[in-house]
Amino acid sequence: MRENIQLKTSFEIAIQRRACVIVEELFRNLKRLMLPGVTTREIDAFCENFLKEHGAVSALKGYKGFPGSVCISVNQVVAHGVPNKYKLKKYDIVTVDVTLGIDGWHCDGAWTFVVGEVNENAMKLIKASWQATMAGIGASIAGNRMGDIGYAVERRVRKYGCNILKDFAGHGIGLNMHEDPVVFHFGEPGTGIPVVPGMVFTIEPVVCLGKAETRILKDGWTMVTKDGSLSAQFEHTVAVFGKKTEVLTLSGKDSFKAVDFPPFF
Ligand code: MF3
Ligand code: CO
Ligand code: CO
Repeated sequence: MRENIQLKTSFEIAIQRRACVIVEELFRNLKRLMLPGVTTREIDAFCENFLKEHGAVSALKGYKGFPGSVCISVNQVVAHGVPNKYKLKKYDIVTVDVTLGIDGWHCDGAWTFVVGEVNENAMKLIKASWQATMAGIGASIAGNRMGDIGYAVERRVRKYGCNILKDFAGHGIGLNMHEDPVVFHFGEPGTGIPVVPGMVFTIEPVVCLGKAETRILKDGWTMVTKDGSLSAQFEHTVAVFGKKTEVLTLSGKDSFKAVDFPPFF
């Protein structure tokens, strides 16, 4: 099937940039909430309120009936975690995935946080998953191809002995939260669709410590690793220009520290 890629103008990207700044700000604020005893429903309520205050609309709430404003995926939950009454505890790792719209233009980002302390395995996973996303971003430059991005992501995950969940892919994003192209997190260098200026898409590898096999819980949403192993995910929205690629969800002054390890972690 031919992909239908909507290239964006600088003006359109400027609106998406505004949307992305809100997502980044939200993540900076969420860190303080990641405390033992806080429920994922409380985190969801905070996000909902934050979006409202910033004039943004959650693109997830009500999407195919999704009940939360954001997805909150704890520990072995891989993705699409439904906010509920679960109380966070020390050593949990919590991925919050936020998709919002401003004036119809979307931004998508995910961040993995730790609650209280972090053990060695979780630390390895978080490093692998942050660096994999960064490696993918590094390869997201005009002149490369989609396969270069996927290759860069997968190679970094393997370096840490972690695994990629291949069912999850990045995606173009614009007036719709999911657009072409599909951005796989594995691939062969030099293959696939060319990366060209005006593309805006996400890089969002879901990485796990154990086997890359999942199942869906009875709620019809929550996806967990079959073996119960931890999973983490950092998602960024990037915009490709002729001579540079901008990470729209990472604009803060501390971003330069962000190569090996997530900032404001
Ligand atoms: N934000 C997710 C993504 O990165 C999409 C979640 S769709 C939902 O593409 F249905 F789970 F909400
Ligand atoms: Co996404
Ligand atoms: Co997302």
